[in-house]
Amino acid sequence: MKVAVTGATGTIGARLVEELRARGDEVTVLSRDAERARRAFGGEVDAVTWADPKSEPAPAEALSGREGVVHLLGEPIAQRWSDETKREIRDSRVLGTENLVRGIAAAEPRPKVLVSQSAEGIYPRGSEPVDESGSADPGTFLSDVVAAWEGEAAKASDLGLRVVRARTGVVLSPEGGALATMLPFFKAGLGGPVAGGRQYVPWIHLDDTVGALLFCLDTEAASGPVNVTAPEPVTNKVLSKVLGRVLGRPAILPVPALGLKVLYGEMAQVVLTGANVRPRRLEELGYRFLRPELEPALRAATGRES
Ligand SMILES: NC(=O)c1ccc[n+]([C@@H]2O[C@H](COP(=O)([O-])OP(=O)(O)OC[C@H]3O[C@@H](n4cnc5c(N)ncnc54)[C@H](OP(=O)(O)O)[C@@H]3O)[C@@H](O)[C@H]2O)c1
Repeated sequence: MKVAVTGATGTIGARLVEELRARGDEVTVLSRDAERARRAFGGEVDAVTWADPKSEPAPAEALSGREGVVHLLGEPIAQRWSDETKREIRDSRVLGTENLVRGIAAAEPRPKVLVSQSAEGIYPRGSEPVDESGSADPGTFLSDVVAAWEGEAAKASDLGLRVVRARTGVVLSPEGGALATMLPFFKAGLGGPVAGGRQYVPWIHLDDTVGALLFCLDTEAASGPVNVTAPEPVTNKVLSKVLGRVLGRPAILPVPALGLKVLYGEMAQVVLTGANVRPRRLEELGYRFLRPELEPALRAATGRES
C-alpha cells in the first residue's frame, strides 16, 4: 500500500512509519522540514515539505496515487497553555486538517482512506464508562478543539474517502508523552497518585496505538469515531501503584492538585481529570490488542519485561 503520513516525525508517527515500512508499504512523509524528516528516517523514506499546515493546502503531489493517509500532526498539548499556545494547539489541528483535506481534493487519483488522529479528550470527564456513542463536552477547551478537528477530517468523506477518527487515549511510550514525563519522578521514588488519583486514565500502549491505526487503515468496515484505548482503563491511583511496582520503587507520594496547577496552569486539568473510555468499535471490528493488560504494558514500555 502507498501511504502518506503527517506528523511522522513524532512519537506515534515514527513508530507507525517503522511498522508500515516493515510490512512493505511505501511511505511518503509530510513534514514542515522534509530534509530533517528524511534524516530522522536515515534517508530511507520519501519526504515532502509542507511548510505551514495552518496556511497552505497539503502538497497534492505527496497525496496523489497514495491509497491511504494517516494524519497525526499537531502542536504538543502537554505544555503550559498560554493564549498563544492554545491558539497553536487548535489551529495546527483544525486549520491543518482543513488544509490536508484541500490537498486531498486536489490529488489525482485521490486516496481512498483517511485515518485522522483525534483524542479521547473529546469526551466529558468522569467515571461513567463512555464509548463512541458518547457526546462531546462543549465549552471545554480540549473537547471543543477535538470536535472541530474531527469536523474538518469528516469533510474528506464528501470527497469519497473512508474516514476514521482515531480517538486516542494516553499513549504509554518511553519516548514521549505522559509516561516519559512521569518516569524520572517514579524512578527517583517521587511518584504517586495525582490529586487523590480517582480520575480515570484511558491508557494505550504505543504498540497498540500503532496497531490500531494500521488496523483502521486496512479494515474496510472501520469508519467514523474509533476509540484507541486499552480494554481496561484504570484510575490514576492504580496506574501509579502498578508503575511503582514495575520500577521497584515506592509510589506513594501524593502529588497535590495545586502543585500541578502552579506548574502547568490550565493544562493541569488534563491530568487532574479523566474519562473511563471503552474501545467498543475496535472490539466489535475484531482488533486483537497486543498489550491489553496494564502491568505487562508498563513492563514493556519501561524495558522491564522478564
Ligand atoms: N502521545 C499521546 O499520548 C497522544 C494521545 C492522544 C492523541 N495524540 C495526538 O496524536 C498526534 C501525534 O501524537 P505524538 O505524541 O506522536 O505527537 P508529537 O510527538 O508531538 O509529534 C507531532 C508531530 O506533529 C508535527 N508538529 C508539531 N507541532 C506542530 C505545529 N505547531 N504545527 C504543525 N505541525 C506540528 C511535528 O512534525 P514535523 O516537525 O515533522 O512537521 C511532530 O513530529 C497529536 O495530534 C496528538 O495530539 C497523542
